[in-house]
Amino acid sequence: MAQLQGEAKQQYVASMFARIAGRYDLMNTLITGGMHLSWKRKTARITAQGLSGRALDIASGTGDLALALAGLPQIDQAVGLDLLPEMVILAKAKAARGHTADKTCMMLGDALSLPFPDDSFACATAGFSLRNMPDLPRALAEMSRVVKPGGRVTTLELTPLTLGLKSRLFRPYFHGLVPLMGQLVAGNRSAYSYLPRSVDRFPDAEGLSSLLREAGLVEVDYQFLGFGTVALHRGLKPIA
Ligand SMILES: C[S@@+](CC[C@H](N)C(=O)[O-])C[C@H]1O[C@@H](n2cnc3c(N)ncnc32)[C@H](O)[C@@H]1O
Repeated sequence: MAQLQGEAKQQYVASMFARIAGRYDLMNTLITGGMHLSWKRKTARITAQGLSGRALDIASGTGDLALALAGLPQIDQAVGLDLLPEMVILAKAKAARGHTADKTCMMLGDALSLPFPDDSFACATAGFSLRNMPDLPRALAEMSRVVKPGGRVTTLELTPLTLGLKSRLFRPYFHGLVPLMGQLVAGNRSAYSYLPRSVDRFPDAEGLSSLLREAGLVEVDYQFLGFGTVALHRGLKPIA
């Protein structure tokens, strides 16, 4: 399924996430040993550094990254957008339980056709969602389009491991234990077998940097998190 493209991929991804939405947060915590929340908070801080105004989180899922952005004093409002009502309902409930409900807007929408005019946001993020996009260059181009000149786009995503010790250590974990956890905890082995296969097919950190540049961003750089399993990229939309 990881090899699907276009509309077929979008339909597969949508039905998979609709089925696992209720267990999505628990699985993230189990798979990452709870680290995903600190990676998201770090992503939010880096994204909004030196900026102020509205922030967008595409494919926001249950809204963690949007909420991390909303928690920053310089962010007036964080919009979390997702294709699935199942995710938006969970994100809204989570926002309502937090301290930043008045600064957060969780909404339905397609990351490949964002319902916002050009130059609407100070910054935009994508967390663990680019692998699932049926058209990755278009998703990046849309993020770049809606950010103001001088604004920032960041992406937080699992990254393919190069051959070596780390790959030998993590491959059995991602390809063996994670699908088993998916079966036992989320009742869905195939969704969590798709995860490592989609990482294997995703551009490496240098490749993703090139795609961010092709989307019109400059000063692109990245850092690895999670023992090299996750890459956090950032780029700026040039001023004129
Ligand atoms: C792995 S989850 C990531 C959720 C969240 N960003 C996080 O970091 O936990 C991927 C999300 O992408 C959403 N998604 C997939 N295709 C999308 C699209 N075209 N537009 C908006 N959301 C999309 C799914 O519904 C799902 O919630």
